[in-house]
Amino acid sequence: MALTVLGIETSCDETAAAVVRASGGVPEILSNIVLSQIEDHRAYGGVVPEIAARAHVTAIDAIIAQALGAAGIGFEELDAVAATAGPGLIGGLIVGLMTGKAIAAVHQLPFLAINHLEGHALSVRLTERVEYPYLLLLVSGGHCQLLRVDGPGAYRRYGTTIDDAAGEAFDKTAKLLGLGYPGGPALERAAERGQPAAYRFPRPLLGRPGADFSFAGLKTAVAQTVRGLGGSPSERQAADIAASFQAAIADCLIDRSRAAMHRFRAETGTLATFVVAGGVAANKVLRAQLAACARDEGFAFAVPPLHLCTDNAAMIAGAGIERLAAGLVDSLEVAARPRWPLDELRAGTGLRHPPGAKGPKA
Ligand code: KG4
Ligand code: ZN
Repeated sequence: MALTVLGIETSCDETAAAVVRASGGVPEILSNIVLSQIEDHRAYGGVVPEIAARAHVTAIDAIIAQALGAAGIGFEELDAVAATAGPGLIGGLIVGLMTGKAIAAVHQLPFLAINHLEGHALSVRLTERVEYPYLLLLVSGGHCQLLRVDGPGAYRRYGTTIDDAAGEAFDKTAKLLGLGYPGGPALERAAERGQPAAYRFPRPLLGRPGADFSFAGLKTAVAQTVRGLGGSPSERQAADIAASFQAAIADCLIDRSRAAMHRFRAETGTLATFVVAGGVAANKVLRAQLAACARDEGFAFAVPPLHLCTDNAAMIAGAGIERLAAGLVDSLEVAARPRWPLDELRAGTGLRHPPGAKGPKA
């Protein structure tokens, strides 16, 4: 049986809609439209929540129409609607969630409230046959976590960051170096021209028990180095700092992932697959080093293609299909959740709306 799901993503600064169809459990992306708001936020050097929410309102209807058009289908051919319900910026979340609910209500379709992190966590299964359970390194602008993924809604967290996320560290370091916005891709480009051993930056938590991360000290060390160079490093120095920073991040990610692989093997008795997902997984240097680490430990390695690493709605539709197939349908009463840890996912989403603000990236 084929299942066709519309996915909607508005948790941060991309307005996105996609149609995914699964036949016999094999998904196919029929369309995947992503409208980036980068230009709206560039002047501010980061995502401005109010601007993001307004831009989502303006764009969402046309983006959904474009996704359906590119897939060559109408609303009547959908089996369900999936929208990101959290975590993320509340204004944007409400826009996507309400739009998704309205489409589901009008066309009498099942509705799926998707955790954005679950979208990233399952995104690899859109393009590769990775079986459960697998070990996941989720590295994005708002998160840095190692998780055992047993299926949709079934996660065990092995470790998380105790301060900054890896993507956040990339963004802040790029800003310090005057590399522009968004920071991650700019820093990767600058690092290509630099020496990774030029500066010896700290590798927080390396070799410690557990699988937690910490990047605040690394960011501070970069800030001190930049200050020591009079506040404005030359292009050469900035490239060296970028390469040295990226090398430190790589060492941290590898050390913690290795510890998680050992725990995964002890718990499950299998080697399985090590999956890296989230925006930072777009970094080619990190991908290559993490792949080598997995190979060392006897794990298979999988990473979504670049355009599915950064925020998109295909991953939301994909997670929606998995939840729909598992009968995890949500009520139209479900509220947006600015904070929503992945290992709290139960069968279907809760209706509670816990308090708490949320950073710009999730
Ligand atoms: O998953 P994503 O698109 O949004 C969140 O849910 O956070 O991830 C965005 C993050 C940003 O911090 C961005 O700088 C980082 O991913 N990123 C990268 C690269 N491309 C995106 N970081 C390092 N290298 C890259 N090539
Ligand atoms: Zn994301």
